[in-house]
Amino acid sequence: MWQDKGIIVIGATAGLAESTLMHLAEQGASLVLHGRNKETLQQLQNKLPDSASTVLVQGDVTDPSLGSQLWSALQDLPGTPFGFLCFVGIPGRLAQDEWTPQALSDIFAVNCAGPLLLCRHWAEQMRAHEHTGNAVLFSTMQANYPFEGSLPYSLGKVALQHGIQILAKEVGNAPVLRVNGIAPGVNEAGMALASIQRGKYQPYVDDQRIPRYGTPQDILQAVSFLLQPDLYMTGQTLLLDGGFTLRRDQA
Ligand SMILES: NC(=O)c1ccc[n+]([C@@H]2O[C@H](COP(=O)([O-])OP(=O)(O)OC[C@H]3O[C@@H](n4cnc5c(N)ncnc54)[C@H](OP(=O)(O)O)[C@@H]3O)[C@@H](O)[C@H]2O)c1
Repeated sequence: MWQDKGIIVIGATAGLAESTLMHLAEQGASLVLHGRNKETLQQLQNKLPDSASTVLVQGDVTDPSLGSQLWSALQDLPGTPFGFLCFVGIPGRLAQDEWTPQALSDIFAVNCAGPLLLCRHWAEQMRAHEHTGNAVLFSTMQANYPFEGSLPYSLGKVALQHGIQILAKEVGNAPVLRVNGIAPGVNEAGMALASIQRGKYQPYVDDQRIPRYGTPQDILQAVSFLLQPDLYMTGQTLLLDGGFTLRRDQA
């Protein structure tokens, strides 16, 4: 399905991205892989099939020139521009005496403003070149329920979900561009792994409020759905948390 489709992947080095990238590469997608660290990016590229068409782009998600670097890298690959995936996020784990307007604003820039502006840049280029396509950005379950202590992280993710709706509304006319989000729960990969290993979420599994932790394979399934070329959905964020948010208080 992804043969000859060009996809920009921001935060390709994220723990949750691995299965998705492997699948897209195996299916023949051309991938612009973004990260901040050259070595990590090269390690990722080496894990993908030799046949995969990939190009690496480094940069901070808050850098205003990153959008044009990503678009120009996509032009170096075979295929037609189609997808935009943004896995970028930081948990914002600050001690409460470090919560200042500036500190929260820096976290917001990475979790919300940077990803939305990059998505907007991609959409403008897609429209200018008359390509249809789909974008998927990553929120969190913490943007869908007020978990105590999550202010630095969740503020940006709540705004991201609203921004997804605004962008979807702005770019919905022909050529059709769809913008959706995924709000994961607790996954055994990436930023949640350390908390799982400390046992923070074990009670939720032990008393079966969630059947298990999420995995990068669950993320692959959701991304594959949201990247469908004929997807009948836009401006939505899928809560992919195994029921955590709904059943959190059923101890
Ligand atoms: N893991 C979970 O259970 C979970 C749960 C809920 C939501 N999420 C969300 O899902 C997404 C992926 O999560 P993950 O756990 O896979 O994260 P992760 O392994 O911690 O990876 C985070 C990604 O964001 C990139 N990044 C961080 N700050 C950046 C910046 N300033 N500029 C550019 N890139 C930056 C990292 O790039 P580098 O490699 O350069 O550091 C990395 O690719 C995130 O948006 C996260 O909020 C994850």
